[in-house]
Amino acid sequence: MKAIEIRNKYLNFFERNGHKVIPSASLIPENDPSVLFTTAGMQPLIPYLMGEKHPEGTRLTDYQKCVRTVDIEDVGDNRHLTFFEMLGNWSLGDYFKEEAIQMSYDFLTKELQIPVEKLSVTVFAGDEDAPRDTISAECWKKAGIPENRIYYFGKDNNWWIAGNEGPCGPDTEMFYDTGKPACSDHCDPSCDCGKYVEIWNNVFMEFFKSADGTYTKLKQHNVDTGLGLERMAMLLQGKKTPYEIELFAPIMDKLKELAKTDDIQSRRIVAEHLRSSMMIICDGGRPSNIDRGYILRRLIRRMTRHMRKLGIDLNEISNLVDININNLKEMYPELENNRETIKNVLIEEKNKFMKTLENGEKEFNKAVERARREGKNKIDGETVFNLYETYGFPQEITVELAEENGVELELDKFDELYKAHQEMSRLGAEQKFKGGLAEQNEQTTAYHTATHLLHQALRTVLGDHVRQNGSNITTERLRFDFTHPQKVTPEELKKVEDMVNEQIKRDLKVTCEEMTLDEARASGAIGLFEHKYGDRVKVYTIGDFSKEICGGPHVEHTGDMGRFVIKKEEASSSGVRRIKAVLVKE
Ligand code: SER
Repeated sequence: MKAIEIRNKYLNFFERNGHKVIPSASLIPENDPSVLFTTAGMQPLIPYLMGEKHPEGTRLTDYQKCVRTVDIEDVGDNRHLTFFEMLGNWSLGDYFKEEAIQMSYDFLTKELQIPVEKLSVTVFAGDEDAPRDTISAECWKKAGIPENRIYYFGKDNNWWIAGNEGPCGPDTEMFYDTGKPACSDHCDPSCDCGKYVEIWNNVFMEFFKSADGTYTKLKQHNVDTGLGLERMAMLLQGKKTPYEIELFAPIMDKLKELAKTDDIQSRRIVAEHLRSSMMIICDGGRPSNIDRGYILRRLIRRMTRHMRKLGIDLNEISNLVDININNLKEMYPELENNRETIKNVLIEEKNKFMKTLENGEKEFNKAVERARREGKNKIDGETVFNLYETYGFPQEITVELAEENGVELELDKFDELYKAHQEMSRLGAEQKFKGGLAEQNEQTTAYHTATHLLHQALRTVLGDHVRQNGSNITTERLRFDFTHPQKVTPEELKKVEDMVNEQIKRDLKVTCEEMTLDEARASGAIGLFEHKYGDRVKVYTIGDFSKEICGGPHVEHTGDMGRFVIKKEEASSSGVRRIKAVLVKE
């Protein structure tokens, strides 16, 4: 069964079971600068898991584009992917364990026709935070899984939380038996010998874990499920790696044809990173030296490096993009509209990387000369690390050059410096994730409302051509991009600022109504990204001043938001201006 058929079967099945289909959110989290990419279906839904009302109701099903980058260096083996699609069904305070488990069972055994003998499940064993999940075990038994294939495990295996803080709970995971012989008498689904492959996870999200480690009950119990599409396609097609399924096959074949050396690992890396980069660029990501831009840069550079290793002409990038778009556009129609942008970004970054390599090589040669002058035949670890850190020069290439030049490298020291650097990045990323969840707080809520006030004030002062082009909120400031052909004058900015402050002073009531998209348009509500919303939307009204389609949350009254101050107005891109503003508490 092809991946797209699995996706369609899934959505249809859950639709028949009362769920509304919601489209994938962007890979680049909106209004949330603190997570790098959407890593799970639950991320765009966090406000609704926390109790905010979703306009489409309490039963949803989705297909979410995800990027997980902790494993970049593992890509090339037979299972890690940085980009994947996660299918999910969601109960927002609606059904719970029994119904969720019955539906999972029915989908696997009836829709996908997986023989029940192939299935094992795991449930939470219980500890001081939450009881042993005998309910889920009973539900599985009732559905048809024999007791000897129901396993109990602790938090390590059967508890799901994104990061350290946030909505969480015990989960039950479903495993597919690949038919490989057991690696030992103790082989069970927690073993990673490859016999058991996890195919689906149902999280029973009823707790919130705070940063200090305490658990409290959420306002409502939720079900969050995640089924990895590529992996399921691989198993159903009887393949051993995701690179053999139809989503990868054409690009893998082409790479084989173009390559001068037979290196399956490099081919996988090129295929995987190409697809990931294309999806990220398509959703607006651009390479840079920080955060998500840096991840994208690494993906493109690693891909380029392995193309070189395979002896593939780098001018082939454009053809490879075409092959992938042809193959993937049925699943991701957005790729077609972004074909040129994707090519341009990839090629420009490839060119920058080639320049980096040139500069790095010069630096390397200087280091060799320096070492020789000092009568040494070894380049010290700091220099190797500096080449990596400052010149972006990949270690493998340093190793290659060292071999060519007959010099040694102080790699122990390099490893030490590299590990310390990795640890710093990891801590940084964790910090960011925490920030992502802390986002749902009072300060960001106020910024959210301020963004609506600013949007309307800009339209009133500058004209109705002003449309939101992007927005980004932290606890410290808001950033708002909008269409406007020229610089906003200081007088205009002052008018906008005054107008927002006037609305805050008026202590306007903020109300929310649900309606269809057409009703929302007819009511005069503004709001971008309409395509993102389903049929029913929420419209937030701020007194008589603003009406905008939005998912929320917002303050109830504008009175306590603080004083609105515009800090900066600048060009964002052609025809798009950017305003940064803060709320000052007095
Ligand atoms: N949040 C869970 C996961 O990512 C289930 O969707 O696995």
